[in-house]
Amino acid sequence: MSKVAIIGSGFVGATSAFTLALSGTVTDIVLVDLNKDKAIGDALDISHGIPLIQPVNVYAGDYKDVKGADVIVVTAGAAQKPGETRLDLVKKNTAIFKSMIPELLKYNDKAIYLIVTNPVDILTYVTYKISGLPWGRVFGSGTVLDSSRFRYLLSKHCNIDPRNVHGRIIGEHGDTEFAAWSITNISGISFNEYCSICGRVCNTNFRKEVEEEVVNAAYKIIDKKGATYYAVAVAVRRIVECILRDENSILTVSSPLNGQYGVKDVSLSLPSIVGRNGVARILDLPLSDEEVEKFRHSASVMADVIKQLDI
Ligand code: 2OP
Repeated sequence: MSKVAIIGSGFVGATSAFTLALSGTVTDIVLVDLNKDKAIGDALDISHGIPLIQPVNVYAGDYKDVKGADVIVVTAGAAQKPGETRLDLVKKNTAIFKSMIPELLKYNDKAIYLIVTNPVDILTYVTYKISGLPWGRVFGSGTVLDSSRFRYLLSKHCNIDPRNVHGRIIGEHGDTEFAAWSITNISGISFNEYCSICGRVCNTNFRKEVEEEVVNAAYKIIDKKGATYYAVAVAVRRIVECILRDENSILTVSSPLNGQYGVKDVSLSLPSIVGRNGVARILDLPLSDEEVEKFRHSASVMADVIKQLDI
């Protein structure tokens, strides 16, 4: 039996419940929302498809129903409005977390806490600090989505199956994130080497454009339809699967740092091994000097925000 609790049945929470129901790896999904009717409606809507998929129990509940969950996925909070950065949300959502996380812990302090609400790096750090949960048991979805966007764009450009494109966006899930080109490869062939045999134009300008498209992806989608939820819900499914199946997969989740590249006391995304106990370890990979600089820049932006919070 594996149970996942989803806190917040907004676009991201409800769509994550849907992707998890389809995954076949979960037996119970409980949706918790202050607007109970919304959670009930989403649970019913998903449940009506269950006879056509693998059995799963999807229902609406309250905080007490997080009891026994293996993973608690937190998507609750105010959403990003058009023109608003993820960091604009910080104060509103920190206040929500300060009252909500202790409530959840009352019923379950054994689960893995997966934070998805934005700004995800800050709220992951806030949760880590206020929960007292051991390192590795609380982490954020971070740049798993951004890395997927990056791989998708490169796969289109190179005309290669995206599963053969190994690329990572690291740092903040937000404006200071960047592509770790030095560890990008196509099926084990370094990106630079692959470019020379592929023959398509892949110069500095192209690389900059791809990176910008990833950084601006959410703004573009929010501008067009008000919110992003499909791809992030697939990212949630992927992370939860790694946990429940103890996959030890390498994902760019966001964890509190303790000295990586000289950074600590903030949460940021780096390639990390994810399995049954959450994040087993962060990989300290040999990044280029420029990438290390960018990573430290992400960290200093996060540290400035954290300084202004009362945690
Ligand atoms: C995204 O990147 C808004 O964080 C959300 O789609």
